[in-house]
Amino acid sequence: MRKIKQTLEKALMEAGGILKRAVHQPIKVHYKSPLSLVTKTDKEAERRIIEIIRKRFPKHSILAEESGKSYRHTCKWMIDPVDGTTNFAHRLPLACVSIGFEEDGILKVGGVWNPFLSEWFWAERGKGASLNGKRIRVSTNPTLRESLLVTGFPYDRRKRADYYLRFMKAFMMKTQGIRRLGSAALDLCYVACGRFDGYWEFKLNPWDQAAGALIAREAGAALSDFSGRPMDIYGNQTLVTNGKIHSEMLKIIRKLL
Ligand code: IPD
Ligand code: CA
Ligand code: CA
Repeated sequence: MRKIKQTLEKALMEAGGILKRAVHQPIKVHYKSPLSLVTKTDKEAERRIIEIIRKRFPKHSILAEESGKSYRHTCKWMIDPVDGTTNFAHRLPLACVSIGFEEDGILKVGGVWNPFLSEWFWAERGKGASLNGKRIRVSTNPTLRESLLVTGFPYDRRKRADYYLRFMKAFMMKTQGIRRLGSAALDLCYVACGRFDGYWEFKLNPWDQAAGALIAREAGAALSDFSGRPMDIYGNQTLVTNGKIHSEMLKIIRKLL
């Protein structure tokens, strides 16, 4: 595992450097679809991450947002070179590099690096989660009434705005507040370190949540789909909480599905 961790660290660090330098240059946006943005930096950072991994582990599988997948090995790297591309394109410093490593379908190591705020979230299965080297834990807020939640809206949000806003409204009535940061990986890490008490989102991709899910789990979070079954990073329902408010959130979500 040592070589895996070193590789993951190097990839995060170098990709973060690419993001940090690029934010001071003009940022040209291209559109994968009207609401899905990509920049030269996403591609450049992803290319560098893959190069670093391939050099050390040429046979491993890779699932990367901008260049697709290669499945041939039970060891798999899940890469989001810029999570929060829309924020990055607007120079909002809520964007990060997210890399998760899975072996035989089990997440083993995950790292999320926000080079703009210098926050390095890290977890290894069974060994806890940390932020800049210090152990992190989920919050202890016992009820929704005292909670701050976070969410995100999927790419079909213009077609299904009313549907997604129903969840927002229901939680708005029951909590201290709701935030929408624009980076699923950071949303998960912020639950992990107790800044948020709960997070729900529809239709994420595995590269958005692989690393963050491990970091949250290792920090003591409860992770499920909207029926309460264990969360699947390949599925399309994400509910991650401090554990204490999980059933309260589930109850509200279930009624609205
Ligand atoms: C997006 C962000 C956003 C989430 C979207 C993701 P990207 O990733 O994580 O918070 O709501 O579903 O696609 O495109 O910035 O890598
Ligand atoms: Ca993403
Ligand atoms: Ca991305």
